[in-house]
Amino acid sequence: MVARVNTVAFQGIDVKPVDVQVQIANGMVAFNIVGLPDKAVAESKERVRAALHALGLSLPAKRLTVNLAPADVAKEGSHYDLPIALGLLAAMDVIPKEELEEYVVLGELALDASIRSVTGILPAAMHAGANDNKLICPEACGGEAAWAGDIDILAPRDLLQLINHIKGTQVMSRPVATLGKEGPMRVPDLAEVKGQETAKRALEIAAAGGHNLLMIGPPGSGKSMLASCLPGILPPLSPREALEVSMIHSLAGTLPEGGLLKRRPFRDPHNSASLPSLIGGGHKVKPGEISLAHNGVLFLDELPEFARSTLESLRQPMETGDALVARVNAHVKYPARFQLIAAMNPCRCGHLGDPDLECTKVPRCAADYQAKISGPMMDRIDMQVDVPAVKVSDLDSASGESSAVVSARVGRARDLQEARFAQHKKEGDTGFGVHVNAHADGKMLEEIAPLEDDAKTLLNRSMESAKLSARAYFRILRVARTIADLDGAPAVLTKTHIAEALSYRRVSLN
Ligand SMILES: Nc1ncnc2c1ncn2[C@@H]1O[C@H](COP(=O)(O)OP(=O)(O)O)[C@@H](O)[C@H]1O
Ligand SMILES: [Mg+2]
Repeated sequence: MVARVNTVAFQGIDVKPVDVQVQIANGMVAFNIVGLPDKAVAESKERVRAALHALGLSLPAKRLTVNLAPADVAKEGSHYDLPIALGLLAAMDVIPKEELEEYVVLGELALDASIRSVTGILPAAMHAGANDNKLICPEACGGEAAWAGDIDILAPRDLLQLINHIKGTQVMSRPVATLGKEGPMRVPDLAEVKGQETAKRALEIAAAGGHNLLMIGPPGSGKSMLASCLPGILPPLSPREALEVSMIHSLAGTLPEGGLLKRRPFRDPHNSASLPSLIGGGHKVKPGEISLAHNGVLFLDELPEFARSTLESLRQPMETGDALVARVNAHVKYPARFQLIAAMNPCRCGHLGDPDLECTKVPRCAADYQAKISGPMMDRIDMQVDVPAVKVSDLDSASGESSAVVSARVGRARDLQEARFAQHKKEGDTGFGVHVNAHADGKMLEEIAPLEDDAKTLLNRSMESAKLSARAYFRILRVARTIADLDGAPAVLTKTHIAEALSYRRVSLN
């Protein structure tokens, strides 16, 4: 006699249905879990046994077999406790088997039979909704699950409450969708940054079009400060983006108190970050920083201090917008369409070009330091700006524009792009679509960024003289399109737009 309960396994943000089959048979007393369980799943039987004991139930002295089908999909995580416990309860005839058929079940059990929160509830709930199933999840995750739309959800506090509901003795109500409590945003205002007009302008363009930006300058010139102003000028997430990002954060367990994310992600991993923590993977497969920064910003401060292999592994995701993580028996893919903002000193001492301060190893030390960023990596950075030391006169000057003013301009430019790309939507595009200029492909650019004749001449000449790559060519066009969008969005790009975009390419470092 076999009892069945539906649950899921996660492969990237893809959700695979898993069938938990429980059999109680005569034979030698044993309790086995099969079907590629990892350590957390294998330990599940101890938690399940203890939780049932807390309800005054003991497992029958028979041969208990739990099969997690399909057997070739690896099962990771602690969310299998609850489906296994329900399967056992059904096989023991404590609850009716047919009651469970329509549910997808996830939850971790504590020894006292309370149900603890687990990761990945949002994608699991979306999966349940798409398959006309209902969902059973921990109480703490109910608010998150409710965002998946109009599906039936049970979010019990403990196993007893769930059993009572299934038996009809105590009815639970559906949880309501909660917004994450993210706390107040504490970021400096752009008005606090003195001088650095070029860098501020570049930051605004980068924010408006989603472009990658590298700031190079001596220590204490305000590079980290400028980057930390960015969340204050970026537009909030659209509902579609919020759902995408929240799915990833749900899997990583970083959603704010069980609600959806509203604020555009801004991730700033330390330069000691390991490759798995940045790209994803590790012992238990989890999204990395670049995926947590999906639809938002990845800020890498002191860029050359990151391990070379870590930096190079960013190249592929920067082009494709996905992080591919190799596992023993599969490749797992997480979305990772992030905007890279980076900062670095021009050399180790940081004072390259300042005769009073620079060290005696110039220019060797600068060349060595900058060589840590490879050519292909530099090529992917649309804008590179100098952030020189602040002049005393600038420090005394009046404050410049506030973040609110800049943010309004950025918001307008983003709205223009959103409307434009809605018209250029590709047939049958099931991906995330294009929403900012930085993601437009070559063919699309031909349509949305036609050039005036002298603009074209300037761009072609610069390509030849500066030996720019084809990739650089398109990146310059994208930046120029954003500059034009901030400038009232003329349909045809002029020489001024191209010249400004070119000025952010390949700063002279020495
Ligand atoms: N342009 C600036 N305007 C106002 N304050 C600045 C500026 N540049 C640096 N500072 C001050 O110096 C501190 C350190 O700056 P920071 O951004 O960390 O420098 P960097 O990252 O370039 O080494 C900031 O917290 C701020 O107080
Ligand atoms: Mg800094």
